[in-house]
Amino acid sequence: MTPFIRIRNVTRRFGDVLAVDDLSLDIDRGELFCLLGASGCGKTTLLRMLAGFERVDSGSIEIDGIDMAAVPPAARPVNIMFQNYALFPHMSVADNIAYGLRRAGLPKPEIVARLEELLRLVRLDGMGGRKPHQLSGGQRQRVALARALARRPKLLLLDEPLAALDKKLREDTQFELVDIQERLETTFIVVTHDQEEAMTLASRIGVMDAGRLVQVDTPRTLYDRPCNSFIADFLGTVSFLEGVVASVNDGSIMVDGPVPVTAANPGGFAVGDVVRMAVRPEKIALGPEARGAINEIPVTVEDLAFTGVATNYRVIGPEGVRLKLTQPNRRGEAASLEWEQQGFVSFDPADVVLLRD
Ligand SMILES: Nc1ncnc2c1ncn2[C@@H]1O[C@H](COP(=O)(O)OP(=O)(O)OP(=O)(O)O)[C@@H](O)[C@H]1O
Ligand SMILES: [Mg+2]
Repeated sequence: MTPFIRIRNVTRRFGDVLAVDDLSLDIDRGELFCLLGASGCGKTTLLRMLAGFERVDSGSIEIDGIDMAAVPPAARPVNIMFQNYALFPHMSVADNIAYGLRRAGLPKPEIVARLEELLRLVRLDGMGGRKPHQLSGGQRQRVALARALARRPKLLLLDEPLAALDKKLREDTQFELVDIQERLETTFIVVTHDQEEAMTLASRIGVMDAGRLVQVDTPRTLYDRPCNSFIADFLGTVSFLEGVVASVNDGSIMVDGPVPVTAANPGGFAVGDVVRMAVRPEKIALGPEARGAINEIPVTVEDLAFTGVATNYRVIGPEGVRLKLTQPNRRGEAASLEWEQQGFVSFDPADVVLLRD
């Protein structure tokens, strides 16, 4: 089956800046795809090229089997909700949402029917008569979403749709957005620079850096199997250990370094390879006594922070090796170690991700 969106070797340059650099990506029909990356990495430029507002210097974009090179923005089956979307302040919610439908010259009864359906979809039934200033931030955001969906685009591009909302509202709205997308089965591409948001929303995430796609995968694969240190560090917290491969067996690899580490063998590594190893904080156990476990390291607690759900530790081991770990706060358990106390950490070889860079 041909993918719904097919981006092939797309490049866009502004003077010296390669905003999008030889980027290829397929997206399926009905996907909620997230583009994630730091400020300036090219996310908005890519969306604008999909919508037809930005020229493509080289490469091609196909949507629904049609090459978009000669298709003007208004003729594309695409709508875009801009990074700094603004509602028309003097118009009611209903007029804001129906604006594009009126301009397209839809018959009045159809506009009324679609408006009702959209208000219901974004849970603003009965609020059509209000002005934007009479709404909360989250409600305004939903009006903008309804307006973007009004003409039933096959593809909706959302550029930082939740950026204006505070943390709590943002979390609720994330679930709503997923719910709406699932009901409509419209393909969504959502841009965000918030990794947690991307993980919550997306079926797949594409992580961008300096105009390039570094890795495209499901949230879980990106988190558990990052392809390099940049991705491991970008998504969530991680500790890195350095070393040189000392022996390779069927199931495991021994790495020599400031602390010797045993890692599960992912294949493709040989004795003498210089490696970095990434371990997630929730995969590291901490206790006061040695238990004779694999990858057990004596440490001193440098720092700890109680966050409610968990306690975050920074510990220091032999040769100044530093590790970050998280322990869940279970009922009736005190923190297992206090500040400046000595203890032992350990982690399973299967939880060590071997990286080349
Ligand atoms: N019209 C333009 N003229 C010149 N440079 C531009 C133009 N548009 C974007 N750029 C540059 O291209 C790069 C990518 O910009 P883009 O807006 O795509 O980033 P972004 O990933 O959306 O960032 P943010 O998260 O801050 O919105 C940046 O270096 C930016 O300065
Ligand atoms: Mg942007």
